[in-house]
Amino acid sequence: MLQKLLSYLIPINIYKSNSRLSNSLEVTWNNGELVLDSKNTNYSYGSLQRILRKGLKYIGFERINSFESILILGVAGGSVIKTLVDEVRFKGKITGIEIDKEIVAIANKYFELDKIQNLEIIVEDAFEFVLRTTETFDLIIIDIFQDTTMPNFLFQDFFINRVNLLVKENGFILFNTMVINEKDKLRNEEYKLKFKDNYSLRMYPKVEVHNELFTIKKLSK
Ligand SMILES: C[S@@+](CC[C@H](N)C(=O)[O-])C[C@H]1O[C@@H](n2cnc3c(N)ncnc32)[C@H](O)[C@@H]1O
Repeated sequence: MLQKLLSYLIPINIYKSNSRLSNSLEVTWNNGELVLDSKNTNYSYGSLQRILRKGLKYIGFERINSFESILILGVAGGSVIKTLVDEVRFKGKITGIEIDKEIVAIANKYFELDKIQNLEIIVEDAFEFVLRTTETFDLIIIDIFQDTTMPNFLFQDFFINRVNLLVKENGFILFNTMVINEKDKLRNEEYKLKFKDNYSLRMYPKVEVHNELFTIKKLSK
């Protein structure tokens, strides 16, 4: 395809719209790869996919393959879902929660998420989903951004405690955060302290320039 080839020379934008939550949404061919960006950051594919792939590697592809169910909070173009399906070869159930229905339409049109059999996408605020669901999961991936902003609820006890209840024993939480300034650094240090004896937390700083990942294992009692 011509656009894909040309994109090795310059990025080629093929879709753009305004978005209340993300400021703008753009689908662009970049170095032979189709990526989804918000106004100021990469949402899916590109560096974001590399970051979450590293997180999955830290947990272990083989271990993930033995899981039954995975919850993804923040779907965007679904690059972590593609990694799970194409690279990890995960065959269990994947549930994705995305607040923005326009993003889900983009994900289906440009990234063909609707062709993935073992995936269910629910258009809902992740905070509300986490409050109402009674399902439990082996892996919960938290990847929620509104452009470059991370909503405060992600770091509050109420949400953290609910997520901890929804993850099965010996299951994992993978949390992607952005650290741009000292305040963010402090916020993450405080987050770390919230996980006590029943959890094994690891922090991976500077996974890519501004990203810090957490893997949190819920230990068996
Ligand atoms: C970095 S993107 C997710 C990338 C995705 N995990 C992937 O692998 O490609 C962040 C997403 O979080 C979504 N989002 C923001 N606030 C949300 C909320 N409260 N509930 C659910 N999704 C939210 C945004 O609309 C955006 O699609």
